[in-house]
Amino acid sequence: MERPGTTVAAIFETMDYGPAPESDAPALEWIERHGGEFGHFIGGRWTRAASGALFDTVNPATARPLARVSQGGPADLDAAVAAARAAFPAWAALPGHARARHLYALAREVQKHSRLFAVLETLDNGKPIRETRDLDVPLVARHFYHHAGWAQLRDSEFPGYAPLGVVGQIIPWNFPLLMVAWKVAPALAAGNTVVLKPAEFTPLTALLFAEIAGQAGLPAGVLNVVTGDGETGKLLVAHPDVDKIAFTGSTEVGRAIRRATAGTGKKLTLELGGKSPFVVFDDADLDSVVEGVVDAIWFNQGQVCCAGSRLLVQEGCTERLVAKLRARMEKLRVGSPLDKAVDMGAIVAPVQLERIRTLVDQGVAEGATLWQPSWACPTEGYFYPPTLFTDVSPAATVAQVEIFGPVLVTMTFRTPAEAVALANNTPYGLAASVWTENINLALDVAPKLKAGVVWVNCTNVFDAASGFGGYRESGFGREGGREGMWEYLKPRWEMRDAGSEGDTRSVAPIPADAPSHLASRISHLASPLPPPDLPPIDRTYKLFIGGKQVRPDQGYARPVLAPDGRVLGEVAEGNRKDIRNAVEAAQAAREWGRGAAGHTRAQILYYVAENLARRAAEFADLIDAMTACGHAPAAAELDATIARLFTYAAWADKYDGAVHPVPLRGVTLAMNEPVGVLGLAAPEEAPLLGFVSLVAPAIAAGNTAVAIPSEAHPLAAAELMSVLETSDLPAGVANIVTGAKDALAKVLAEHDDVEGVWFWGSAAGARVVEEAAAANMKRTWVVTGKARAASSCAMPPR
Ligand code: NAI
Repeated sequence: MERPGTTVAAIFETMDYGPAPESDAPALEWIERHGGEFGHFIGGRWTRAASGALFDTVNPATARPLARVSQGGPADLDAAVAAARAAFPAWAALPGHARARHLYALAREVQKHSRLFAVLETLDNGKPIRETRDLDVPLVARHFYHHAGWAQLRDSEFPGYAPLGVVGQIIPWNFPLLMVAWKVAPALAAGNTVVLKPAEFTPLTALLFAEIAGQAGLPAGVLNVVTGDGETGKLLVAHPDVDKIAFTGSTEVGRAIRRATAGTGKKLTLELGGKSPFVVFDDADLDSVVEGVVDAIWFNQGQVCCAGSRLLVQEGCTERLVAKLRARMEKLRVGSPLDKAVDMGAIVAPVQLERIRTLVDQGVAEGATLWQPSWACPTEGYFYPPTLFTDVSPAATVAQVEIFGPVLVTMTFRTPAEAVALANNTPYGLAASVWTENINLALDVAPKLKAGVVWVNCTNVFDAASGFGGYRESGFGREGGREGMWEYLKPRWEMRDAGSEGDTRSVAPIPADAPSHLASRISHLASPLPPPDLPPIDRTYKLFIGGKQVRPDQGYARPVLAPDGRVLGEVAEGNRKDIRNAVEAAQAAREWGRGAAGHTRAQILYYVAENLARRAAEFADLIDAMTACGHAPAAAELDATIARLFTYAAWADKYDGAVHPVPLRGVTLAMNEPVGVLGLAAPEEAPLLGFVSLVAPAIAAGNTAVAIPSEAHPLAAAELMSVLETSDLPAGVANIVTGAKDALAKVLAEHDDVEGVWFWGSAAGARVVEEAAAANMKRTWVVTGKARAASSCAMPPR
């Protein structure tokens, strides 16, 4: 006899779900085949940890251990980095097509083993099989296919660029296998070799992937996996033979890595946390919005860096939306992640569960209204229900701090301007979504949101062809697409051995027998022979801030010497206060990037070139006087400077984006935005060309700048103030502060309102800049001791 409630007729009545478990057998068999214990995967084979230390990896849905993995120590990392280094020359030298075949094979292997990967991921992480099967694993395969393409095209699409070498990659636990793909695919496509450290909570799919890659013929040493916790990660970051670190994880650890790599010359990308806004206007399709919210914050239990965790709703529809959301939450199913009909699985580990609980308690204590569904979560394992906060103030902890759990906070706004202000009220800048049926509103609001990715009427959609990444405290660098490939390549000119002392070595030495006629060349600076009864006219350059020449805060000046030691003139001694004033002016001029069209920016740069050309002889004399380089080289520098201004004027309306052909509904627009306020420290050599080569691309791309000229030879840049003043450049777009370069650059790097620093100078100065930049995670580009061919001229790295 049938049990009541299980007849087809009864099920039609109740519409209850039955259990639909996916079998865990293939994954458990794989673990069993390894005896339940794993070493590291180094040089194409399994190796035991040198220390023998092991730790458990646990199934969060049952709280029971799954396997034991090795804790990587210094000897393990030495071995892995050595294996990667040994494999690098041959891998980098393979023809693109051969690397493409390897990446293609990896994509095929992922597809062939998709069930095993999906089940193992669900067991180790606790996320629903529905997600690992339908989202994580297919995206992993897609990533390798896409990057097989970039391997094939590397030489034709990135001419003049080379791989970096050995790349250290550290990944988190929320998308363990997907993060393997995001990290490994572009690195290998570009020709690098890899040492990867998975998160301690979720190491298994990375190990399985490495094993399968080895079986698929990936050369030994190209991909090495060392397991362990944060200490292992630290060792990888500090390893002297690693050329780049790519990290995804918390902002706190990202900041520590920024500091640890400062001054080492290691390239760095950081994909960090977020508190992404989900902006709903009252004309949005609310039923779509509800499903969007489910995808935004209950996908992967909210453990998603770009989770739409702040729901910002226009007042008119708040009540209706909250009612619909509560109804939908009541129907969500939390339970065994292997059950194919479950919406939410387990939280990764007790420590994460505790963090969520603590933050939710704090939300309640700070006065927000908590709502959770009426049903209870399973008690075995680490589960947490979907949670909604209303009546949240924008300054509340739950509105500001990344919770990394299934917790949504709701706030309201009235106007689009208010929505933008509320959305941008966060130190993060990873993602955002906008919901409206009005295309004008969407196109107006989306570009104003300070986030690396903005989705319109959808959320959490990813594809390998479309770069992903953030800015501000969400880190920097892009993963996916052409933009992601730049992160694993460097210009070939950087490969020249440059020593460690920085470009100060190339400052023209002071010749013992400096020509005595220099003084006559600089008659326009100071009158060398004033009439005996008149005091000399003081010719001291000021600073250029907010479109005006202003005296430095302390009123001091510093002499500028000719190579023979005589004083050529004086420039202002800028200090911390002057930099702050300049940054304020640059901030006030930010509209330059949004308001002024590329065409206008180009016109102004042409005008600067024109005005400079008019005074070319005078500027060439100045350069010769400062550096004793000779008249012809000085004139050549002027010609090159004018040509460079033309180049960047040309770029101003051509530095456009792309429409990525992603296999998704709608279109994906990749738009280049200005970084914002940039700090620029010019090289010592080619004092005018070097200075203009930094300022011109910065402002061509719509940034505003605070620029520090060459410390030894600042006069030409100082004289440029008068050119800028007469070239229609809006006040504050370019500001010039002369003085001690390293000290001033440090102030810029520390400044919270500076979004990027491009530093040319000593290795010590570069280290200070990179270290200080960790405070607000601003982007930095440092160049030490590598003279770039004066003829080479492109837009700066993206
Ligand atoms: P975490 O940032 O500590 O861990 C991420 C990875 O970095 C792991 O592989 C870990 O072993 C490694 N690591 C830890 N300390 C390190 C160090 N000093 N040097 C080098 N590597 C190091 O993240 P955790 O502790 O697992 O999670 C804490 C919080 O971080 C979460 O609650 C969440 O808010 C955030 N998070 C954000 C992620 C994202 O995708 N943006 C991913 C994971 C966590």
